[in-house]
Amino acid sequence: MMIDLRSDTVTKPTDAMHQAMFEASVGDDVYGEDTTVNLLQEKMAAMFGMEAALFCPSGTMTNQIAIKVLTQPQDEVICYKDAHIYKYEGGGMFSNSAVSVRLLDGPQGILNPAQIEEYINPDDVHYPRTQLVALENTVNRGGGSVYHLSEIAGIHTLCQKYGLKLHLDGARIFNALIATGDAAEDYGKYFDTISVCLSKGLGCPVGSVLLGSKAHIHYAKRIRKSLGGGMRQAGYLAAAGLYALDHHIERLADDHRRAKQIAAHLSNLDYVASVFPVETNIVIFKMQSQEALHAWLQHCHKHQIKASGIDKLHARVVTHLQFEEEALHTFLEACTAFEAQTHAH
Ligand SMILES: Cc1ncc(COP(=O)(O)O)c(C=O)c1O
Repeated sequence: MMIDLRSDTVTKPTDAMHQAMFEASVGDDVYGEDTTVNLLQEKMAAMFGMEAALFCPSGTMTNQIAIKVLTQPQDEVICYKDAHIYKYEGGGMFSNSAVSVRLLDGPQGILNPAQIEEYINPDDVHYPRTQLVALENTVNRGGGSVYHLSEIAGIHTLCQKYGLKLHLDGARIFNALIATGDAAEDYGKYFDTISVCLSKGLGCPVGSVLLGSKAHIHYAKRIRKSLGGGMRQAGYLAAAGLYALDHHIERLADDHRRAKQIAAHLSNLDYVASVFPVETNIVIFKMQSQEALHAWLQHCHKHQIKASGIDKLHARVVTHLQFEEEALHTFLEACTAFEAQTHAH
C-alpha cells in the first residue's frame, strides 16, 4: 500500500466518519437551513471564543474572504514571506482584495512585534496604508512551527496600538493547540478573524471554517456567495467536521510524536544536511545536494512512498491520521536503505 507523506490533506474519511456523514440531517445552507452546518458553526465559534462562524469549501477561501473583509483596496498586509496566503493562494489577495503585501522573515516563519512595527507605514499618501497583520499557526513553510499565545498577545498589543487588524490562518491550529497546551477559547481575544481547516490534521474530506464577529461573518457570507462558495446540503460535509472535533484532536499528539521520530532518524543520516526543529506534524529537511534530493524522492517512489520536494534542496514529509506505526517503520527503513545505497556507490 502506498504511504503518502506529501501532506495531511491526503487523508480519507474513516468508516466512523463516513457513518456520521451518512446520518447527517441536512437542509439548504444558502437559506441558512442546514442544521448540521449551523451546529458546526455554533460549536466552533464558541470553542474559539468568537461570536460567529462560516463554513466554507477550503482554507484558501476562508483566508481570502478574511482578507477582503478586513481590508480596502490599496491597503497593505504584513505577513511571513512564505505565508500560505501569499505564496500558495494563486495571487488571490491581489486579485480578490487589491491589496499590497509586506513580506517579513523570521526564524521558522515566526514574526515578532518589534520587526512588524518597523514595517508599519506612516500615514503618508506615498505609502500603502498598513491595515492587516496575518499570522499562520502552525507555520507550514516554517516546518510546522508554533506561536504560543503569549507571542500572539504581544503582536495583538502592537496591532491595537496602530489600529491594525489581525488575522490567523489556522489551517493547523489544532496542531498548535496540542503542541502548546494553549486554550482555544483564548484565541478569540486576539484575532479579528481565524480560518480553521477541518481537512488537514482533523482528517475531514472537505471544509474550513471562518471565525469572527457577527458583523464580519455577515459580510463574509456575502463574499462567500460571490466567490461561488455558498453550498446547499453541506451538512454531509459539516458532519465530518463535528465528528472530527470529537474524535481527531487528541490523537494529533501521535502525529507529532511520529514526526519527531522521523526527524531524529533523518538527522543521523549522511545524505541529510540538516533538519528543521520539529514541534508538530511537519518535517522539513535539507539534503546534501540537489541530486541527493532527486534520487531520494525516486527511491521513496520505488518503495511506494510519496514525499514532497519543496525546493531544490528541501524535502517535506507530513504525518497524519492514516500514517500509523507500521508505515512509520517502513518509511524509516526506506530512509536507512537509501543511505546504504548511496554508500555502496
Ligand atoms: C497554512 C495553510 N493555509 C491554508 C491552506 C489552504 O487550504 P485549502 O487547501 O483547503 O485551500 C493550506 C493548505 O495546505 C495551508 O497549509
